[in-house]
Amino acid sequence: MIAAIDPGNCKTKFVGIQQRPFVFPSAIGVNDLARNLKRDPGPYDFEWEYEGKCGFAGTLALEESEYAESRKDDSKAHFDAKLRTLIALHRFGAGTDFDIVVGQPIDTHTDTEKTAIKRMYVGRHDLTVNGQRKIITINRCEVSPEGAAAGLLVAPNTGMIRVIDIGSGSVNYATIISRRFNNRGSWTYNEGMESKRDLQPAAFARQIASKAIARKWSAEDMVYLVGGGAAELLPYLLEYFRHAQLIDDPQTANVRAFLMIARRVYG
Ligand SMILES: Nc1ncnc2c1ncn2[C@@H]1O[C@H](COP(=O)(O)OP(=O)(O)OP(=O)(O)O)[C@@H](O)[C@H]1O
Ligand SMILES: [Mg+2]
Repeated sequence: MIAAIDPGNCKTKFVGIQQRPFVFPSAIGVNDLARNLKRDPGPYDFEWEYEGKCGFAGTLALEESEYAESRKDDSKAHFDAKLRTLIALHRFGAGTDFDIVVGQPIDTHTDTEKTAIKRMYVGRHDLTVNGQRKIITINRCEVSPEGAAAGLLVAPNTGMIRVIDIGSGSVNYATIISRRFNNRGSWTYNEGMESKRDLQPAAFARQIASKAIARKWSAEDMVYLVGGGAAELLPYLLEYFRHAQLIDDPQTANVRAFLMIARRVYG
């Protein structure tokens, strides 16, 4: 089965062919399995066992774990991101064999990191979630740039668009010219909606816009916003980019674009 996963620093997004996207908290707690009081499991309550470790994930980690964290990192070549992805495949994927596309911030979308991510995923994974054991096999894996991929949902055949992907731990800036990624106009700013002690949306929007203006983005550019912070910051970003607009369902835009890419790559 073909599937796309965006294992974000705050929310994991999953979509498969002919499925609606699933979004669940990326929080993971390790070693939390002992519970005297058990609740009826919610759709995103996960107890997991993997590679000799065990713990909670999703809403269960947020509400019941003593040690829940959602690791916010510049790269997604790490155990937490792998576990988020595998839990998504286990719970929402059809079958046990997959060809996947996953996301990585633009600045760390390098050959070294991409190779590390592919190596991390391709192969067999023995994962138990909520008592159900599955051997998940990932046959093929591609790594797609966050933000830039989402631009492909709206980019015209000719002309330039800009994308700002406002996540919890990072902001990705992307430029797409005639449906091709433009490296020079694309980068990552490693702060997001949850990096500030006390988020002030207008001030954060000004900071985001200033970094783009410094790289010669113009007030007239076609700027599309995606990510969980997009809707909240749109009114403030309009002061700097008068054509700024949301891509539909901005939080799942990246993962829906990854699926589009997966269909193209895997046929
Ligand atoms: N309805 C909402 N109103 C305001 N902010 C929201 C809303 N929904 C989500 N957010 C913000 O969106 C953020 C999560 O966005 P998103 O899912 O794009 O992040 P992520 O992809 O997990 O992070 P990253 O891209 O840094 O890995 C949260 O930190 C939260 O601040
Ligand atoms: Mg994101």
